[in-house]
Amino acid sequence: MPSTFNLPIVGANNSSAVMSSASSVSSTSPPDHLTLAVLGCGSMGIAILSGILKELSEMDAPRPLQVVTSSASVSSLSALYSSHASTGAAATSSGASAGVASAAARNDMPERLPTHFLACVRRPEAAKRLRAALWAHSSVVKVVVDDNVAAVQQAGVALLACQASEAAALLSSPGMARALQGKMLISICEGVTTEQIESYLYGEDPASSALTTTAPATATSPKEARCRVVRAMPNAASLIGESMTVVDTSSATGPLPADAAALVTWIFRRIGSVVHHPSRGAGAGAGTRALTTVDRVAASSAAACTALGAAGPAFFALVLEAAIDGAVAMGLPRAEAQLLAAQSMRGAAGLVLQNGEHPALLRDRISSPGGCAIQGLLALEEGGVRSTVARAVREATAIAVQEGK
Ligand SMILES: NC(=O)c1ccc[n+]([C@@H]2O[C@H](COP(=O)([O-])OP(=O)(O)OC[C@H]3O[C@@H](n4cnc5c(N)ncnc54)[C@H](OP(=O)(O)O)[C@@H]3O)[C@@H](O)[C@H]2O)c1
Repeated sequence: MPSTFNLPIVGANNSSAVMSSASSVSSTSPPDHLTLAVLGCGSMGIAILSGILKELSEMDAPRPLQVVTSSASVSSLSALYSSHASTGAAATSSGASAGVASAAARNDMPERLPTHFLACVRRPEAAKRLRAALWAHSSVVKVVVDDNVAAVQQAGVALLACQASEAAALLSSPGMARALQGKMLISICEGVTTEQIESYLYGEDPASSALTTTAPATATSPKEARCRVVRAMPNAASLIGESMTVVDTSSATGPLPADAAALVTWIFRRIGSVVHHPSRGAGAGAGTRALTTVDRVAASSAAACTALGAAGPAFFALVLEAAIDGAVAMGLPRAEAQLLAAQSMRGAAGLVLQNGEHPALLRDRISSPGGCAIQGLLALEEGGVRSTVARAVREATAIAVQEGK
């Protein structure tokens, strides 16, 4: 049996309970198992975990016309994963985006996928909610209550998904910096910068790491004793597998290693589409020299990615609402107007995403001479919708730059 992660809840601050489970896991699990700890497993944590677990179940399920070879006949997830990694075979898409993005996902399969999960919360009531949400996966998901450090000790990678206001307390708890040593910490906390995360872990001045007192003798420098922080910003549509996640790959410590980048991409592809910014390979080493104009443009475009990805659904919700109001004003019942408007918006987005069509071409194609579309479009242009929406993105980007998002 590969896993002993079937204890539903580990009690509050009961490190020994977690650790005893950990030791039995390490003695019975294949050595290439990767455990992901979700630090703060609320709405977003559940959405991300659900996406991952769904994908793992699909990968493990027998597929039609699957040819059983000697290597593939081993019925374990890890065997399938390594076969996917080496052959580039089907990494199925759980979200809306397909085409280019899923081809990239296939080619960028990480060496190891997370197969075991520690879902961490603070309160027993939250643990109950988690158990209800993830009961079908209790063989690989363990709910940990108020014992983040022990969970991180067992994990190979951690996902910080608590509220931004809770990040400082969670990360600065005794032993956390040491538990994260040499691991990757992916943060989705909005508005919490990498510098802040490092200061919570290592003290106010990240250069004078608090790990100097806690790092093992094998660490040759405080920098090497740290974790690698990666910020990823999904959006509200994560809950339905339609997120647009922006992964911030800029770092003073150099580019994200290819396999780490592949793992981050794989995780967030489970809830939708993913872009890396700056794109992989660009801007390496920018953190070690003075900022140039190019760096500033890069910083601004990174913020634009975040602003559009995270705030975009809110902007489009306003446009949607306006369209609904117009139809209601003309006599349509609100529920019907909402369905018509939302499906029209989804259709337009789908055509652009799937066919790569320029929105202007789509608009022209719909606008027949003397028809209703062209009349409506002219009214929108008269009302300055184009410049107003563009300005909204610029304003949101300016705020994102200020906040270092
Ligand atoms: N929602 C979105 O659309 C969205 C989009 C992008 C990014 N984000 C970011 O995602 C993060 C999570 O958002 P959410 O909506 O999922 O929040 P949420 O539902 O409130 O979940 C937060 C979770 O963190 C847990 N938690 C808090 N302090 C903890 C601690 N010390 N140890 C262990 N667990 C702790 C809470 O558990 P208890 O209930 O037990 O306290 C709760 O389960 C936020 O930082 C947000 O900025 C959200």
